[in-house]
Amino acid sequence: MTDKKPHKSVTILDLQKMKLEARKITMLTAYDATFARLLDSSGVDVILVGDSLGMVVQGKQNTLSVTVDHMAYHGAAVSAAVSHAHVTVDMPFMSYHASVEDAVRNAGRLVQEGGAHSVKLEGGKERAETISAIVNAQIPVMGHVGLTPQSFHVQGGFRVQGRSDEAARRVREDALAVQEAGAWCIVLEGIPAALAREISEELTIPTIGIGAGNGCDGQVLVVYDLLGMDEDFQPKFVRRYAEVGRLVRRAVGNYIEEVRCGSFPGEENSFKRAPARPKRVAAASAGAGYGPGDTSAA
Ligand code: KIV
Repeated sequence: MTDKKPHKSVTILDLQKMKLEARKITMLTAYDATFARLLDSSGVDVILVGDSLGMVVQGKQNTLSVTVDHMAYHGAAVSAAVSHAHVTVDMPFMSYHASVEDAVRNAGRLVQEGGAHSVKLEGGKERAETISAIVNAQIPVMGHVGLTPQSFHVQGGFRVQGRSDEAARRVREDALAVQEAGAWCIVLEGIPAALAREISEELTIPTIGIGAGNGCDGQVLVVYDLLGMDEDFQPKFVRRYAEVGRLVRRAVGNYIEEVRCGSFPGEENSFKRAPARPKRVAAASAGAGYGPGDTSAA
């Protein structure tokens, strides 16, 4: 890594000021230290350890099987590698639904074990009390309304929300309730662009959109989607900035070919034996740690 990292951490106050100054907020997901380091040194404002890891890391069809242990594990890996961005960790399904006490305790775990600077949870009016309680425990909360992936079965899959007047009113009321409850920021996912713009103008906290048009105060994408890791996944709301999936396939193909034909490893990748020494010197240094496991004398 040659990139120089900026050292001041982005705070929720910095991010709220960005809304006031009409500067767009950038947010991307990361699930491990390598990606987190790359995103952080590229200057992204917020890194989200999303429960989307259930799909893109664990290979599931939705996010419902992700646990607090999983989020704490991935949060710790990401936060260890980040020195600039604000780190938000998702609260997974059922970690804040059964009781407010549960929610506060689990949010605390994501801060203490996962290194979260704030936590994100899904839902509107029905989560107001939970959001307030977590904020009262001095943990900043990012809300998430509209298409909420943890409502997969209730919403009938991943479907755009707020299309009718009545549905739009509900999304707007949910966003307002989340702000009233004390959230510092809110994700608007999978709603019409015009509705997202109206909500963004109405709220005083920053809105971060995904599949919600460009009227939001910031944008978020799953980093694997932006990089084109899965060549078959091309939803309307994603713009691909690279074709990393194709690149990986080509690189791995080259590796396989070169191993099979014997051109890898080359001489430049191989270690040499120590030069032969006169017998008397060799005997004097016997047992001095110059054994077969030592690769330092390449
Ligand atoms: O889990 C996630 O990655 C998310 C974003 C898509 C907003 O919640």
